[in-house]
Amino acid sequence: MEGKVLLGQYLIWVMLVLGQLYGCKSCTEKDRMALMDLKKYVVSTSIEGYSDFVLTEWTNDTKNDCCFWEGFECNSTSGRVIELFVDFTYCKQSSLLNLSLLHPFEEVRRLQLSDSGFGLSGLFDDLEGYKSLKRFRNLEILDLSSNKFNNSIFPFLNAATSLTTLFLKSNKMDGSFPFKELRDLMNLELLDLSGNRFNGSIPVQELTSLRKLKALDLSGNEFSGSMELQGICKLKNIQELDLSQNKLVGQVPSCLTSLTELRVLDLSSNQLTGKLKVLKLCSKSNTLQLVSESSWKPKFQLRVMALRSCNLEKVPHFLLHQKDLRHLDLSDNIISGTFPSWVLANNTKLVVLLLQNNSLTSFQLPTSAHNLLSLNLSVNKFNHLFPENFGWILPHLQYMNLAMNGFQGNLPSSLGNMKNIQYLDISHNSFYGKLPRSFVKGCYSLEYLKLSHNKLSGEIFPESANFSRIWALSMDNNLFTGKVRQGLRSLTHLSMLDISNNNLTGVIPSWIGELSSLSALLISNNLLEGEIPVSLFSISSLRRLDLSANSLSGDIPPHVNSEDGLVLLLQDNNLSGVIPHTLLANVKILDLRNNRLSGNIPEFINTRNISILLLRGNYLTGRIPRQLCGLSNIQILDLGNNRLNGSIPSCLSNTSFGLGKEDTSYDYDYEIFSAFVDSLHVDLYFESLLMVERFGMEYDAGAQTKVKFATKHRYDAYMGGNLKLLFGVDLSENELSGDIPVELGGLMELQALNLSHNNFSGVIPKSFSGLKNVESLDLSFNRLHGRIPPQLTDLSNLAVFKVSYNNLSGVIPEGRQFNTFDTQSYLGNPLLCGKPTNTSCDNNNFQEAGNEVEADESLIDMVSFYWSFGAAYVTILLGMLASLSFDSPWSRAWFYIVDAFVHRVRKLFC
Ligand SMILES: *[C@@H]1O[C@H](CO)[C@@H](O)[C@H](O)[C@H]1NC(C)=O
Ligand SMILES: *[C@@H]1O[C@H](CO)[C@@H](O)[C@H](O)[C@H]1NC(C)=O
Ligand SMILES: *[C@@H]1O[C@H](CO)[C@@H](O)[C@H](O)[C@H]1NC(C)=O
Ligand SMILES: *[C@@H]1O[C@H](CO)[C@@H](O)[C@H](O)[C@H]1NC(C)=O
Ligand SMILES: *[C@@H]1O[C@H](CO)[C@@H](O)[C@H](O)[C@H]1NC(C)=O
Ligand SMILES: *[C@@H]1O[C@H](CO)[C@@H](O)[C@H](O)[C@H]1NC(C)=O
Ligand SMILES: *[C@@H]1O[C@H](CO)[C@@H](O)[C@H](O)[C@H]1NC(C)=O
Ligand SMILES: *[C@@H]1O[C@H](CO)[C@@H](O)[C@H](O)[C@H]1NC(C)=O
Repeated sequence: MEGKVLLGQYLIWVMLVLGQLYGCKSCTEKDRMALMDLKKYVVSTSIEGYSDFVLTEWTNDTKNDCCFWEGFECNSTSGRVIELFVDFTYCKQSSLLNLSLLHPFEEVRRLQLSDSGFGLSGLFDDLEGYKSLKRFRNLEILDLSSNKFNNSIFPFLNAATSLTTLFLKSNKMDGSFPFKELRDLMNLELLDLSGNRFNGSIPVQELTSLRKLKALDLSGNEFSGSMELQGICKLKNIQELDLSQNKLVGQVPSCLTSLTELRVLDLSSNQLTGKLKVLKLCSKSNTLQLVSESSWKPKFQLRVMALRSCNLEKVPHFLLHQKDLRHLDLSDNIISGTFPSWVLANNTKLVVLLLQNNSLTSFQLPTSAHNLLSLNLSVNKFNHLFPENFGWILPHLQYMNLAMNGFQGNLPSSLGNMKNIQYLDISHNSFYGKLPRSFVKGCYSLEYLKLSHNKLSGEIFPESANFSRIWALSMDNNLFTGKVRQGLRSLTHLSMLDISNNNLTGVIPSWIGELSSLSALLISNNLLEGEIPVSLFSISSLRRLDLSANSLSGDIPPHVNSEDGLVLLLQDNNLSGVIPHTLLANVKILDLRNNRLSGNIPEFINTRNISILLLRGNYLTGRIPRQLCGLSNIQILDLGNNRLNGSIPSCLSNTSFGLGKEDTSYDYDYEIFSAFVDSLHVDLYFESLLMVERFGMEYDAGAQTKVKFATKHRYDAYMGGNLKLLFGVDLSENELSGDIPVELGGLMELQALNLSHNNFSGVIPKSFSGLKNVESLDLSFNRLHGRIPPQLTDLSNLAVFKVSYNNLSGVIPEGRQFNTFDTQSYLGNPLLCGKPTNTSCDNNNFQEAGNEVEADESLIDMVSFYWSFGAAYVTILLGMLASLSFDSPWSRAWFYIVDAFVHRVRKLFC
């Protein structure tokens, strides 16, 4: 609130000033005409269809004074444009700028041609050639950042001798430092060449001839060599020097203290070694050893100090005398022992203290209150109680991160005194007990609260919490009990609510649907029962709803309202009834595995959005409907362990398994970001010429979508990029019959195909050699006969191949992947011969075995009856085990035990 009021006042002020400055004089006709010509040119270079968005503010209407356009400024006496910003965001690739068009702006002082789209790639002037920029006698600031310029523009730049400031950041320039190319720019005070591909060594000697140079940014290039950093000390006037993110090696020079003007030095992300003398150091290779001499008393007074990844064992002692320090970053070091409370006691102006990823063990606070705003102590080794008086000593904190430590005990009630705290992460500790009432009522500024992975208990907000601004709340993996109470109801801005993995009981209240900003609601792994409230499905912003592993029952609401497509996880409940035929319309991922759903798979009216459809482990009956052939974005289809019958529709080859996915841009993971940059005003610590890397704390609330799917006989959790690349079909453990359609061989994208434990007959289609990506192919426990097509040896990715317990005969193909399969793949096909079985194919019986097989069919059927009985029993056992521990190595071992067992059973009958 305060911020807004301030900002408001500031704006009024600015407007007053602007009114004063420009009230009387408006932009000249000459300049306006020239701007129209320029606009015409920019439009002509813009991408087709975007010309309407180009420089919309620039109009021919004289009432619309161009001096007030964004990026413009005029001389208040002459009314001439002196600052000009041209936006080339929509320009086509490799567009050039006609510099002649700028000539009318004779008085221009600042010219900015930066961009966020394709960017300009060159300059030209038919009339004046390289001398073009010489016409602008007043040009001081030229900003060409973020374009695609290469070295070809240097001759133009070198003519602009009046320049004091030149930004060439983020272009496509390369080669050695362009000293010769810019040799005439003797007035330069600031030169920014960052984010290009300049290489070679830094010509310190030549740089000294740029006598006026105050700020130099060469960061993010490829400058290398054992840098003569000692030479740097000759840049007597330099105030700001950023050489970070290059490939410099060598010693950090000891002469740096002689650079009396130096305010900013960033040598981070190089491979320098040496003793600490400077303020911002971090080493990419982690080889920098800092030895801070306790006697060292530097003359400078730092405002910002960052010593990340410096193998620092102690907080440098000289900080005792840095009275002006605002920002201290000592993260990623090996500082151990007690929290250095003296840093707070003796640096009273400190605003930001970052100590994450060290080895601190105990916590001690200074005795008097401090104005610190931001504190990060995450990833340390704290293992004691958290100080009781914390909230009294640091009442102004806005950001605090204590995650990944071993803090114990109750949360102190003094936390309630932190009225400004916006971000609080105490996850992955051992805090226990109830949330203090003072905290729930007092910390009303909270926007982000993460309590995950502790041992907190009690009910979730039995009375209303005072967190009216909160948008991300994670209370998962604790010991919270009781019902979901009304206290949550007042948190109307909630975007993410994670209360999964607790011991919550009762029903999901239907008022949760009133939290209309929700985009992720995660309640899995609790003891909730009752029906799914229809209101939940109508939240239009919802992108992820996880109610899995509860005891929910009843019907599934028919329709989802999500605008962006929902990840809907309802597996492992007791849901019953039929699957609504309208359910898939706005759903990206649907997991209904292991419920009690019955009836047919409906004729879904919209099959275009769904990419993962998992219906395994229900009581679904009937045929696989032809509508499923319309799954144009499907990646994983699991219909296993139901009671489906009939044959596989051959049109299944029309799905995206055969054609690839239409839409790959969608991200299953859900993430929201926000940052603190604004509230901490760190860029106000000092006015920098260069843009010093801004300090920001990112909020990041999200949930990665994990899907467990069995390929290669093992349930693995797939997520992120791996999930997006997984294509699989599992129709196992049903009563499907008939031939396997030849067309399935066209499912080129498939990595896993499981048709096992059905009643398929006929032969293995030769066309399966078209499953180019298949890694796992399981056809076991069916009634397939005939030979294994030798064409299958073309499947170069095949790692698991199972045809056991069919009636296959003839020679097992050899070569390539087939040489890696063992007898397990072929068990229970007595008429198969060749490696890896012990049966040799020399015996003609095997070639001519056809008739015999027919005769023995009844016997074999008998056997397979016992067999499938045994198998079903085992499958249930296996299913139970798998659902208990999907990822454990047990499941794999178990599988082999089961196979061996089954093999023995079968031998008994043969
Ligand atoms: C702007 O107005 C002038 C005269 O007022 C006219 O000559 C010119 O063609 C106009 N330009 C555009 C782009 O409409
Ligand atoms: C504005 O224009 C007047 C007259 O042309 C000139 O004397 C003055 O220096 C200019 N001021 C700026 C800030 O360019
Ligand atoms: C560049 O601009 C000048 C001045 O308006 C014009 O004479 C020239 O024809 C333009 N060149 C191109 C290639 O557009
Ligand atoms: C530099 O850019 C200009 C203009 O786009 C182009 O004509 C030239 O080929 C480029 N030079 C190199 C070396 O890429
Ligand atoms: C610098 O880069 C240029 C072009 O990218 C390359 O030809 C040259 O070999 C590089 N020089 C060094 C010293 O790496
Ligand atoms: C902790 O710091 C070490 C040393 O710089 C680094 O290698 C490691 O990645 C950091 N760990 C985390 C979790 O940031
Ligand atoms: C550091 O702080 C302590 C406690 O406030 C004080 O006694 C001590 O004099 C301070 N030391 C310096 C050098 O300021
Ligand atoms: C949570 O529920 C589990 C399973 O019902 C039970 O064993 C455990 O004791 C419960 N814990 C608490 C803290 O209620």
